[in-house]
Amino acid sequence: ISLKGRHTFGIDVKARYLFEYDSVSDLREILKNPLCHEGELLLMGAGSNLLFLSDYHGVILHSCISGIDVSEQHDDYVIIKVGAGVEWDSLVEWCVDRGFGGIENLSLIPGDAGAAPVQNIGAYGVEFKDVFHACEAISTDDGSQLHFSWEDCEFAYRDSVFKNRLKNKVIVTWVYLKLSRKPSYTMEYGNLKDAVASLGGPSLRNIRQAVISIRQSKLPDPVQFGNAGSFFKNPVVDTKQLETIRVQYSNVPYYNTVEPGKVKIPAGWLIDKLGWKGKSLGNAGVHKDQALVLINLGGATGSEVKKLASQISADVRQKFNIDLEPEVNMIG
Ligand code: EPU
Repeated sequence: ISLKGRHTFGIDVKARYLFEYDSVSDLREILKNPLCHEGELLLMGAGSNLLFLSDYHGVILHSCISGIDVSEQHDDYVIIKVGAGVEWDSLVEWCVDRGFGGIENLSLIPGDAGAAPVQNIGAYGVEFKDVFHACEAISTDDGSQLHFSWEDCEFAYRDSVFKNRLKNKVIVTWVYLKLSRKPSYTMEYGNLKDAVASLGGPSLRNIRQAVISIRQSKLPDPVQFGNAGSFFKNPVVDTKQLETIRVQYSNVPYYNTVEPGKVKIPAGWLIDKLGWKGKSLGNAGVHKDQALVLINLGGATGSEVKKLASQISADVRQKFNIDLEPEVNMIG
């Protein structure tokens, strides 16, 4: 099975076994197949955060569980139930249409709803954990039904229990989000407030529209250039290290973190400062408008992209003494 059209990097690789399911009972049947317990397992959504380094020899499971329903109505908020296979941005559109607030800042993030808790997706000052209520999942060992509360998920920056201790042990099938019916907007990130003002002021629709415009102006369209969004996480460093960088670059951008004495520096800024924007290595390149995004210029292999990423990391380590951690999941 060709995986080229099944992930956003557009790498030409193949898989041996791929199973798709549109219900929990289908998934349970698939898990009875011994193939699922012999070799490697890859739980794949829309493939928007993956880089395949080679053909995949294990089993790929792909959720097509669909459906969005209001499961609880309250004066101030609603709880909605979403199938893991629902396309994330169509969910955002659905919520904005109904006046349910909380995920408008996460507009246009590629991927499926089932991957949102795994990766704790985030953008423009909001993270998925801020709206997460609960999720249902299936154990890959025995097909039993599991329930996860907010605490169970151990959310952190682009991280959760599903990527760590429970990696490949549970498959998220349904997610429940708690969304507000009373307007409350998050617009402190970057120039979002100005962009919203120019559309006529704060509303769920205008925030969604502003985020879409900002993303479209910086991030490459995967149809044109395969990519997986930010290739690296933004590194968390000591304020001492920030001061060292400031000696040379007084305007280095940074964000405070919950940890005292630690700040997050945009990896895209570090990479940009070293002159990588628009550079390429074979068929892999650095996006011309956002240095944090590596792109497939056409016909790139996963190893080519990885090699470019290694050269960038080595440069950042040498010049800034900072280790970059990949945000993209490399397979193979
Ligand atoms: N910057 C540069 N040059 C660049 C890129 C960025 O100077 O080439 C500077 C910008 O000027 C700005 C700062 O770095 O001052 C931050 O840039 P931006 O707002 O584009 O955000 P980011 O930190 O690069 C993160 C997320 C994105 C998310 C945006 C907006 C990570 C790894 N990335 O990027 O998420 O959309 O913030 O919230 O945290 C993703 O995870 O795939 C992703 C796209």
